Amino acid sequence: MLSRILDLFRGRPVVVSGTSKLEEGFARRIDVGDPLAGGAQFLLCRVDGEVHAITTECPHAGGRIVEGPMKDGRFAICPLHQYAFDPRTGRPEGDICSKAVTYRVREEGDECRVWL
Ligand code: FES
Repeated sequence: MLSRILDLFRGRPVVVSGTSKLEEGFARRIDVGDPLAGGAQFLLCRVDGEVHAITTECPHAGGRIVEGPMKDGRFAICPLHQYAFDPRTGRPEGDICSKAVTYRVREEGDECRVWL
């Protein structure tokens, strides 16, 4: 209840529909507007039944964290150097670089609200 009240102060969320189809251990890319004109891009990832949001911008060296099956069903991958990131915390597996940005998510039925 408190988190719902606090959500009112977090600004307007991005609403993504059809998220109940996101399978366990998979990441799905979401584009918000035109990425070349101030838009945003992030991944929705389902881990342990919950949906988490992580940026596609890899904090290592400018690569992109990609959609698709996640490593061990838990880590989103940047294919440039094969670093893996936990979408729950943004931490890289093995703490080999800084954390990736994560976002608050609330899943309700077949849609998610994401605060960027
Ligand atoms: S740029 Fe992503 S792992 Fe190196």
